[in-house]
Amino acid sequence: MFTILTGSQFGDEGKGKIVDLMAKDFDFVVRFQGGDNAGHTVVVGDNIYKLHLIPSGVLLDARVLIGPGTVLNPEVLVGEIDMLEKSGTVISPQKMGIDAKTTIIMPYHMELDVLRESARTEKIGTTKRGIGFAYIDKVARDEVTMADIVNRDRLLNRLLELAPQKENTIKELGGDPSIVMDRELVEKYIKLGQRLAPYITDVSYEINKAIENGKNVLAEGAQGAHLDVIHGTQKFVTSSSTIAGSACANLGVGPTKVDEVIGIVKAYITRVGEGPLPTELDDDAGRHIQETGKEFGTTTGRARRCGWFDLPLVKKSVYLNGYTNIALTKLDVLSNLDPIRICTGYEINGIVVDYPPEMTSDLAQCTPVYEDMPGWDDDLTGINKFDDLPSAAQSYVNRLEKMIGVPIGYVSVGPGRAQTFRN
Ligand code: GDP
Ligand code: IMO
Ligand code: MG
Repeated sequence: MFTILTGSQFGDEGKGKIVDLMAKDFDFVVRFQGGDNAGHTVVVGDNIYKLHLIPSGVLLDARVLIGPGTVLNPEVLVGEIDMLEKSGTVISPQKMGIDAKTTIIMPYHMELDVLRESARTEKIGTTKRGIGFAYIDKVARDEVTMADIVNRDRLLNRLLELAPQKENTIKELGGDPSIVMDRELVEKYIKLGQRLAPYITDVSYEINKAIENGKNVLAEGAQGAHLDVIHGTQKFVTSSSTIAGSACANLGVGPTKVDEVIGIVKAYITRVGEGPLPTELDDDAGRHIQETGKEFGTTTGRARRCGWFDLPLVKKSVYLNGYTNIALTKLDVLSNLDPIRICTGYEINGIVVDYPPEMTSDLAQCTPVYEDMPGWDDDLTGINKFDDLPSAAQSYVNRLEKMIGVPIGYVSVGPGRAQTFRN
């Protein structure tokens, strides 16, 4: 069985929490795109794990894989392995595999990200992790791969070939080109490569074999549908395709193998970085959501912008991903707000539409049209079945399910594993 799970909004929907919860039913959990721009939080008892690269199924028995469509910062990965081992999870080569074709994020990619972002008149607000520049090199066939960094001579030859071009680009942006062949940095990457060498594998082969043998594979998306490089709110997007079909392409698994596509949907909406967010709030309700929902970035610590639930954006995500099931997260955060607003459409140039306009600049001009629902005052964080929710919260979930047109199979009312129930 092959299941794909993706974020339906602008990331940080709670993918990590839901993957951790589901992982007990899966033999493999796999990252298929993005890099350490992702920050997936898993809370188990008093322990909080912030995972940027290692799939969120790592705390259970599943084997975790990093696919060739990701971009990998080896220093961050080694830091994550050490962090997990310190808290008792052993990351042996039996537990984790990294595809040989995975693109490596080099120090110059991070430098270029910072330089380019500061030169932009209109910022994107990237995570400065070098994600876009690593993907540029992949597409340009100028990347350094996982297979390169595990072999000293191969890495040095590759860097010598790439250096003049990289140095020129850094110089053009006003940076210091010596970072490209900096001896200490190169030696550091050689050491990191040696440390990670035992994990090299062929992810596509492993997954296809597993599916053939009746095993369960979960593909864990990073970011969210509207940060997709092709279908998102360009240019305020990330540099990979974040939607479900990308899991097939990036993992080398045929679309005929997909059994289920799960969308993670926050009960409201947040966005980190720049770009339109039609329902963005700058009032007490927005501050309540930000504080109660602890809406600060897992990767950069930036405050997340908060807004009411945006149905047109989620409808588009349903089309982009083909969701068969939805996990609705952070319902508890909406307690003590009245009314609770659902954006059902937008008014643009005097016309009301129920689907996002194709142009990002048009989306930025949209005024939300709201349907108001009654709120509730009860604390939801201790509730473990749907029927025990206050009736106003039940009505909100039922209304969303009807509007979205996809079953809401899970409802989450807190960061912990127990704070989730089947709908
Ligand atoms: P991801 O990137 O989609 O994995 O999401 P993040 O981990 O970046 O952000 C989600 C945050 O919300 C994390 O701090 C989670 O621990 C937390 N969280 C997840 N689900 C819930 C929930 O239902 N209620 C509350 N209050 N917090 C949640
Ligand atoms: P998870 O997996 C939220 C945003 C950045 C920026 C834009 C481009 O935790 O949901 P990039 O560094 O990727 O070039 O930045 O994308 N962004 C995310 N926002 N959650 C994420 O990941 C994100 N990954 C990137 O804030 O606006
Ligand atoms: Mg996150």
